[in-house]
Amino acid sequence: MRPEVLLATCSELPSSNEDDSPLPAALAELGVRASWVAWDDPAVDFGRADLVVLRSTWDYPNRRAEFLRWCESVPALANPAGVVRWNTDKSYLVELADLGVGVVRTHLVEPGGEVEWPAGEFVVKPSVGAGSRDAARFDSTTPADAEAHLKWLHSRDRTAVVQPYQRAVDREGETALVFLCGVYSHGFVKGPMLRSSTDESGLFVSEGLSPSHPAAELRRAAEDVLDTTCKLLDLSRSELLYARVDLVRGEGGEPLLLELELSEPSLGFRQTGPDARLRFASAVRAHLNR
Ligand SMILES: Nc1ncnc2c1ncn2[C@@H]1O[C@H](COP(=O)(O)OP(=O)(O)O)[C@@H](O)[C@H]1O
Ligand SMILES: [Mg+2]
Repeated sequence: MRPEVLLATCSELPSSNEDDSPLPAALAELGVRASWVAWDDPAVDFGRADLVVLRSTWDYPNRRAEFLRWCESVPALANPAGVVRWNTDKSYLVELADLGVGVVRTHLVEPGGEVEWPAGEFVVKPSVGAGSRDAARFDSTTPADAEAHLKWLHSRDRTAVVQPYQRAVDREGETALVFLCGVYSHGFVKGPMLRSSTDESGLFVSEGLSPSHPAAELRRAAEDVLDTTCKLLDLSRSELLYARVDLVRGEGGEPLLLELELSEPSLGFRQTGPDARLRFASAVRAHLNR
């Protein structure tokens, strides 16, 4: 019997997006049956699959508890439910910073908590969030706008993440480094997602993605992020089917972690040439045989 893989998406994107929709074909070439299913489709028996791979389950931020319960109910999930639980709340950034990882300065503000806004520009975003939704950029000269956004997040019982705005994102974007089964696969660059609060043009900046061959210090920093994470979670790197490390450069040019994506990352396949998708299919095969 050929192994069966279910690729988990959300009901709004029944066959995921253009980046991922060719994955079943890439897996079929390696003798793996794969199909798209919505994670919350009650008609699907997730227990029958040899592996369930989280891909585009991007509707979880407003129903995280339900999503995590579902993750825990799936016998063979990549990445594992415990990893997803840890990784879907950006408070992991503070844990990694405490372990010595270079992280964008991150302050968590729980509902009812007080905050001292960073000087200059800063970002307020939900600790459980994806796709830049409900993330906004503010300036310390107009704190009322930030106060209102914080109040709005808190009114929905959401913890906020406050970070200084990293200006390097406007100059060079953030670099995403993708690892498959713990081994570096490819990189790409994502342009700025948050419009400046002083930008009067009225134009929203679109998510500009481009291929990248990350500099050695970025690759080294990403390796360090993965090693520290795996030690913390008591995992070996090969247990992570995929990992995406998003880095920006700080004021002194040092690599800083903006986000570690172990749950449902876009993997930038369209930016990287066909090989990356083939490596992903191979990684799934390798994972099936663990
Ligand atoms: N501190 C920051 N400095 C500069 N840009 C930021 C910062 N935080 C977020 N952004 C912008 O907002 C986008 C979304 O934020 P991110 O932390 O990656 O959350 P998510 O992707 O989970 O929504 C980033 O890709 C980046 O463009
Ligand atoms: Mg991100």
